[in-house]
Amino acid sequence: MNKVITAKSLVKSFGTVTAVDGMDIEINAGEIVALMGRSGSGKTTAMHLLAGLEQATSGKVRYQDKELSGLDEDTLALWRRENIGLVFQSFHLIPTLSALENVAFPLYPSDISVTERTKRAESRLEMVGLADRATHRPSRLSGGEQQRVAIARALINDPDLILADEPTGNLDSETGKEILALFHRLRDEAGVAFLIVTHDDEVAETADRVIRMKDGKII
Ligand SMILES: Nc1ncnc2c1ncn2[C@@H]1O[C@H](COP(=O)(O)OP(=O)(O)OP(=O)(O)O)[C@@H](O)[C@H]1O
Ligand SMILES: [Mg+2]
Repeated sequence: MNKVITAKSLVKSFGTVTAVDGMDIEINAGEIVALMGRSGSGKTTAMHLLAGLEQATSGKVRYQDKELSGLDEDTLALWRRENIGLVFQSFHLIPTLSALENVAFPLYPSDISVTERTKRAESRLEMVGLADRATHRPSRLSGGEQQRVAIARALINDPDLILADEPTGNLDSETGKEILALFHRLRDEAGVAFLIVTHDDEVAETADRVIRMKDGKII
C-alpha cells in the first residue's frame, strides 16, 4: 500500500508540556483516518507537525518519498502549499475576498496567469458544488458553504492529503454530514486521503480507521 505520509517517534514539547509524546502514524493513499481524543490530548499539535506548521522537537515526517524533517521554514511553506490541503474548524476565509478569490488565494504569488488561476478556482468550486456562489463574499455564505469554499481552496493544487482540524465542529449535524459526504466523494473521485481531527462520532463511524490519542500518545 502506498503511504501518503509517515511519521516516526514524533515529539513536540512546549516548555514542560509534552503535547505529542512519541507518535508513529502512517496514512495510506486514499484512506480516511479520524483522529480522536479528549481536549488537550495533542491532536491539533500532531496535525500541525504532519503539516509542517510546527517543527517537531524530535522525530521524522516523510511525505510520499520526501523527507520533511530538517527543511527550513520557507522551503516547508512552499512545499505545504503545493502538496497538502488544510481545513480548519473556523474556515479561515479572507472576508474581503469573493469565494473564487479565496479558492485561488494559494496560487499567489506565482507565475500562473490570471486566466489559469480563475479556471482552476472555478473547477474546484464546481467540485464542491458551489459554482453559482463564486462572486459571494464569505459573509453571504452559510457555514456549510464557507467550509466547502475552504475545501475547494484546499484542493487548488490537487493534494494527495487533506488535514482537517474539526471541520464539522462549527456546523449543525446535517451540514456536518454533507461535509463528510464531500470528503468521501473526493476520496472516491480524486483519491485524496484525509486525516480528520474530530470529536464527532459520525466522522469516526464512517472513517476507514480511527486513531485515538491520550496524553500525546496513540492508544
Ligand atoms: N503553542 C503552545 N504553547 C504551549 N502549550 C501548547 C501550545 N499548543 C498546545 N499546547 C498544549 O499542548 C497540549 C495539546 O494541545 P492540542 O491543542 O494539541 O490539543 P487537542 O487535542 O487539539 O485539544 P482540543 O480537542 O481542545 O482541540 C495541551 O496541553 C496544550 O495546552
Ligand atoms: Mg485541537
